Amino acid sequence: MARRQARARGGGLWLPWLGLALLPLALPPAAAPPGACPSACYCVATPELVQCRYERLEEPPKELPVTVHNLSITGSNLSILHPAAFAARRPLPDLRLLRLRHDNIQAVEDMALQGLPALRTLDLSHNPLLWVAPGAFAGVPLLRTLQLNQALLAAPLEDQLAAALRNLSLQRLELAGNGLRALPATLLPAGLEELDLRNNSLQRLTAAELRSLEAPGLRGLRLTLGANPLGCDCALRPFLAWLRATAARVPDARSLRCAGPPPLRGTALLRLRPEGLACAADEGGEPGRLETASYVFFGIVLALIGIVFLMVLYLNRRGIKRWLHNLREACRDQMEGYHYRYEQDADPRRTSAIGTPGL
Ligand SMILES: *[C@@H]1O[C@H](CO)[C@@H](O)[C@H](O)[C@H]1NC(C)=O
Ligand SMILES: *[C@@H]1O[C@H](CO)[C@@H](O)[C@H](O)[C@H]1NC(C)=O
Ligand SMILES: *[C@@H]1O[C@H](CO)[C@@H](O)[C@H](O)[C@H]1NC(C)=O
Ligand SMILES: *[C@@H]1O[C@H](CO)[C@@H](O)[C@H](O)[C@H]1NC(C)=O
Repeated sequence: MARRQARARGGGLWLPWLGLALLPLALPPAAAPPGACPSACYCVATPELVQCRYERLEEPPKELPVTVHNLSITGSNLSILHPAAFAARRPLPDLRLLRLRHDNIQAVEDMALQGLPALRTLDLSHNPLLWVAPGAFAGVPLLRTLQLNQALLAAPLEDQLAAALRNLSLQRLELAGNGLRALPATLLPAGLEELDLRNNSLQRLTAAELRSLEAPGLRGLRLTLGANPLGCDCALRPFLAWLRATAARVPDARSLRCAGPPPLRGTALLRLRPEGLACAADEGGEPGRLETASYVFFGIVLALIGIVFLMVLYLNRRGIKRWLHNLREACRDQMEGYHYRYEQDADPRRTSAIGTPGL
C-alpha cells in the first residue's frame, strides 16, 4: 500500500510511512497519550496502539488504519474540509473522536464528515472558521460532543452554525473563548445537556435569554459561565435571582465573580442578593446623557419656535407693514397732540415765568 502511494505521489510520502511503521517500536504508546497530541503532528489511536507522525499536513491523511478509534491532527494547515474529507478512500467505521485543533480550518463543506458513522466527538477548536455549510455535520448521526472553542472569532457565524446544528442530537457544545456578548440561543439544539460558555464577553444573561433556557428542549441544559465579565449592577438582578434558584444548572456557579463595578469587583456572585444590586452604572452615566439629550431637545424646540416665528413674520409682511404704518400714524397723531398741548402749556408757563418777576 505504501509502495503504491509512493509511486502515485512521486515518492514524496515514502519516508514518513517508513517512519510510521517504525514509530511504534521507537516510542511506547504511553509517549503520546490519547487526546494529547504534540503540535504539528497527527496521532492515530487504534484499540491496540497510538502512533504519532510529526508532519504539517495540507490535507487529511489518506491512508488511515481502518480500525482507528481516535484521530488527532494538530498544528497543520487543512484550510478546507471537503466532503468525506477523512474517508476519501473508505469509511472509518470505528472512528469515535476527531480532534482538529490549531489546523487553520476556514471552511467546512457539506458532508465533510461522511464515512465516519461512529463519530461521537468532533473538536474544531482554535480554528479561524469563516464558513460552515448547512450540511457540514450531516451524515454523523451519533455526534454528541462538538467543540468550537476559540473557533468563532474570525467571522460572525451564528446563522450558518444554527442551520448546521439544527438537526443534530448534541449533548455537549463548547463555545468557550469566542467573545460572545449574548447567549447564542439559536445554536442550542433541543436536548442539549451541557453548554460551555466560559471566557466569553457576557455581562449577564437577560430575562429573555433566561426564558429561552426554559424552553421544553433545554430544561435539562447545564451551562458553565466562568471567566465572563459579569457586571454586578441592577441589570444582573434577573440572572442572579435565576442563579440562586437553580444553581444546579450552572455547575461553576460558586466560582462566578463580579467583574464590576469597582466596589464589587471579585465578589462571589452567590454572596449577593438581587435586591441589593444598585444601578450604580446608571446613576453615573444615565443622568449625564439625559441632561445633554434634554439640552439638545430644548435647543431644537427653541430653534423650531424661532423658525415658525420668522415664517409668520414673513407671510404676514404686508399686514405688518400696514400695522406699522397705522402705528406710526397713531404715534404721529399722538405726538402732534402732545406737541399741541405742550405748546399750549408752554405758553402760560412762559408767560407766568416772565410775568412773575414783573409781579
Ligand atoms: C480516544 O479518546 C478518548 C477520549 O479522549 C479516550 O478516552 C480513549 O481512551 C481513546 N481511545 C484510544 C483507543 O486511544
Ligand atoms: C495553508 O494552505 C493554503 C492553501 O491550501 C495556502 O494558501 C496557505 O499559504 C497555507 N498557509 C500556511 C501558513 O502554510
Ligand atoms: C433536517 O431534517 C429534516 C427532516 O428530518 C430534513 O428535511 C432537512 O433537510 C434536514 N436539514 C439539514 C440542514 O440537514
Ligand atoms: C480566552 O479567550 C480569548 C479569545 O477570546 C483567548 O485569547 C484567551 O487565551 C482565552 N483565555 C483562556 C484562559 O483560555
